Amino acid sequence: MISTGKGYGKVILFNEHFVVYGIPAIAAAISKFVKVEITEGEKLEIFDERIKRKNDMLEMRILEIISSNMGIDLSGRPLKIVISGDLPLGSGLGASAATCVALSRALSGHFNLGLSDERINELAYLGEKVYHGNPSGIDNTVSTFGGVIWFERDKKVENISLGEELHIVIGDTGKPSSTKKAVDKVRLKKEKEEEKFEEIFRRARDLIFEARKYLEEGDLEGVGDCMNRDHELLREIGVSCKDLDLLVDIALKNGALGAKLTGGGLGGNMIALARDKNHQNMLAKEFEKKGFKSLKVKVG
Ligand code: PMV
Repeated sequence: MISTGKGYGKVILFNEHFVVYGIPAIAAAISKFVKVEITEGEKLEIFDERIKRKNDMLEMRILEIISSNMGIDLSGRPLKIVISGDLPLGSGLGASAATCVALSRALSGHFNLGLSDERINELAYLGEKVYHGNPSGIDNTVSTFGGVIWFERDKKVENISLGEELHIVIGDTGKPSSTKKAVDKVRLKKEKEEEKFEEIFRRARDLIFEARKYLEEGDLEGVGDCMNRDHELLREIGVSCKDLDLLVDIALKNGALGAKLTGGGLGGNMIALARDKNHQNMLAKEFEKKGFKSLKVKVG
């Protein structure tokens, strides 16, 4: 018997980084996913088909933490665990969280635990901590629950219903993004520039309520404008980079309603809001003409 678990990738639509400091953020699940399959094997093994690696130390550690918190003792259990999926790794689309969610779900299925989404989310968060140190929990939450979420650290998550669906193009700088490095950079900069950060945080807090309203009303121009302003705030705290700014520039010059970096930054991905499906195709082509990879996703 095969037990399968899936975890979806995500884009952060608004307020990555600010969310670490208790400011609300909005994220959306995307249709790219990580899959974990568990069968009885000869010994305990993890095959990660995405990186073509067997028994990766970090993944073994995450398995240990998640399973022991489920009350499962894996010593002497000959499980074959296979990780696969089409969600790109290491680029701010939430692959580490999606892996933890998929693994928690597959284990819950294999051991007939019937765990709730709330519990899966808690377990995935424990795994995320191994990857990132002090994550806000936004990635595992959106990966577990799907849809579009309003997320505030240590508060109950809310679902947001969109007035209009969003046609988004993800532009990839091709440079790896280390969330931990970016989060550390913000923390150090904040310690040095306390007053400036207070002002930026205030603007990020105001902006998120405005963004939510536009999303719910289906006011795409308003959503785009908030994305542009959010990118500016993220630039001010030092997590953009030349290629992210270039992609934002290409998007806006080609009529995107808004564009911003998404996830940790300093590399990784950005998102651009297109007017409709045709415009989405056009923007994706423009990114590719300039040598960047792109991914088209629909949200809502
Ligand atoms: O995992 P990433 O790169 O999508 O970034 C997560 C979002 C941050 O706000 C930068 C960190 C966090 O823990 O919320």
